[in-house]
Amino acid sequence: MSLLRTFRFQSRGLVTTTKKWTAPKGPTGIVMLNMGGPSSLSEVYDFLYRLFADEDLIPLGRYQKQLAKFIAWRRTPMITEHYDDIGGGSPIRKWSEYQATEMCKTLDKLSPESAPHMPYVAFRYAAPLTEDTLKQMQADGIKRAVAFTQYPQYSCSTTGSSLNEISKLSKKLDPNNEISWSVIDRWPVHAGLIKTFATLIRDKLEEYDDSVKNNVVLLFSAHSLPMSVVNRGDPYPAEVASTVSHVMAELGFSNPYRLVWQSQVGPSAWLGAQTADTVKSLVAKGETNVILIPIAFTSDHIETLHELDLEMIAEAGVPGIKRASSLNGHPMFIEALADIVKNHLQEKKTSSKQYEMTCPMCTKEVCINSRKFFLQ
Ligand code: FES
Repeated sequence: MSLLRTFRFQSRGLVTTTKKWTAPKGPTGIVMLNMGGPSSLSEVYDFLYRLFADEDLIPLGRYQKQLAKFIAWRRTPMITEHYDDIGGGSPIRKWSEYQATEMCKTLDKLSPESAPHMPYVAFRYAAPLTEDTLKQMQADGIKRAVAFTQYPQYSCSTTGSSLNEISKLSKKLDPNNEISWSVIDRWPVHAGLIKTFATLIRDKLEEYDDSVKNNVVLLFSAHSLPMSVVNRGDPYPAEVASTVSHVMAELGFSNPYRLVWQSQVGPSAWLGAQTADTVKSLVAKGETNVILIPIAFTSDHIETLHELDLEMIAEAGVPGIKRASSLNGHPMFIEALADIVKNHLQEKKTSSKQYEMTCPMCTKEVCINSRKFFLQ
């Protein structure tokens, strides 16, 4: 608790006296943050090791690194098979680079005063890793940068981990703070995001007969979190629920719906209901028209292409169980990304107000340090 008090006192002082992001002119680096995924099968072990070694994502206690090695070794054969099933690797890099490039082209027109905008991708657990991206930005002479999370809803496990990583690495690679940073740390109810989700759901509903269309169950699925993270006060569950509520409002609350959670790992308690259990339960109750909607991912990756499509939908073998397409390269979504950055640049804020506050039960110094880095 004392750490939290310290941080809030300091951050208030820093925010009121600091840059309103009056960064130097020149190219603006837009850095898309995400977890990443192995682009080839040979990268699976390293990806898993980095993922399980990240205590911001999955806290495993004092033997985190040793346990991460063991878990990665145990899971590599099965996860390699899964990536093989979806074409030999994750498409997340392809989509992230496409989204970043197309978004920057639009931004050059929308915000000529901050142009040229240079697209970067910084992944937490796979290439291009955050460290390599930061080095590339330095080599490109970037002096101002926007860390743009590609998780629309903020969690300390995801966006928080990426921001912690940038702040830690910057101390090492950029000790004189030559790159001036600001952060887009969440955008759960951006109008363009909501409209794109609604459009993709409407497109999928068109595949049903008119007689059943309004009764199709919309099952919004987001990556789950360990309850230890939820109980720390992580904002993610509330922000995901907020996205769902806005999408349903956009659809005029036309269908029954639920928010459920997928991808639980290990024996500890995680946020539920689990998506897989829910699909099975709905089918058992005779509910055979269901659309699964990945509501917290901005592109396809193993959780959509394998977990939803193969493990749940193909396995269920019920024709009325389908999945809404992911956001991927939808033109409306690219417009939304550009609009989010344009608004951020015009507002000249270093972050959202929410980012200033740590979780109520957080005692991690790294969370305070990263806020000091981005907010001062
Ligand atoms: Fe949420 Fe530290 S865990 S701010």
